[in-house]
Amino acid sequence: HHDAVTHARQHQIRVVAHRGASEDAPEHTLAAYRKAVEDGADALECDVRLTADGHLVCVHDRRVNRTSNGRGAVSALELAELAALDFSSRKTRDSWKNRSEEPDWEVRPEDPEDTSVLTLERLLELVADAGRRVELAIETKHPTRWAGQVEDRLLLLLKRFGLDAPATAEDSPVRVMSFSARSLHRVRAASPTLPTVYLMQFVSPRLRDGRLPAGVRIAGPSIRIVRSHPAYMERLKRAGHQVHVWTVNEPEDVDLCVELGVDAIITNRPRAVLRQLGR
Ligand code: G3P
Ligand code: CA
Repeated sequence: HHDAVTHARQHQIRVVAHRGASEDAPEHTLAAYRKAVEDGADALECDVRLTADGHLVCVHDRRVNRTSNGRGAVSALELAELAALDFSSRKTRDSWKNRSEEPDWEVRPEDPEDTSVLTLERLLELVADAGRRVELAIETKHPTRWAGQVEDRLLLLLKRFGLDAPATAEDSPVRVMSFSARSLHRVRAASPTLPTVYLMQFVSPRLRDGRLPAGVRIAGPSIRIVRSHPAYMERLKRAGHQVHVWTVNEPEDVDLCVELGVDAIITNRPRAVLRQLGR
């Protein structure tokens, strides 16, 4: 175990806060991201969707029903309507289970800004003001419905923060992730040096040899894939790809990721994972 920790230090596995420090505060709220920055996370993960009036907001589900006190699809609501909702709702905790349980959030957001819908713009401001390098892993959700609008908006916004065209992919503090190869292709077509991550829930037969969709350098397998196909991890690495794994919350899964030499761990518990890695 000690060797593994030493290796992890040398290799410097990135610890990515999934939806913010979402074990300690309601997911995708400013409070959850602030906590992740305080905890020392290397990067913040967020899902982005377009509102009816064309703003990018950080919401995971298609609808706001689970994570707020409102109802309806993000795409059918305007930013002002979303901003009026409370996203610190008790339904947020533990995504799908224990819905009836009152969560014992470590961070109880009180400021309205901390509990309302988070725009990607506000998250970029938080990162810009963090006082240290904090990377962003931005996931495009259901981008096919929007024929490129999500990616166009995203690149425009990144441009305003000087993040759209990094000198090299290695230097880039922003990565764009998606389950949609088409979405990643659009991003690369617009900005060839912006690194992209191809997310995978299962290994499709087409990709079993360790190849990724053209131009993608980073694989984003679920921890379930990592557990059941360690040989596939080797194939990805041999093909020269980085491996960013989601969503890794259990200590034994963190150990497994360290053993397999993955490059990033995406977790709801950044503080606990950093501690386990000896950081
Ligand atoms: O980091 C990737 C992971 O977040 C993908 O799954 O459903 O949590 O967005 P999901
Ligand atoms: Ca996500």
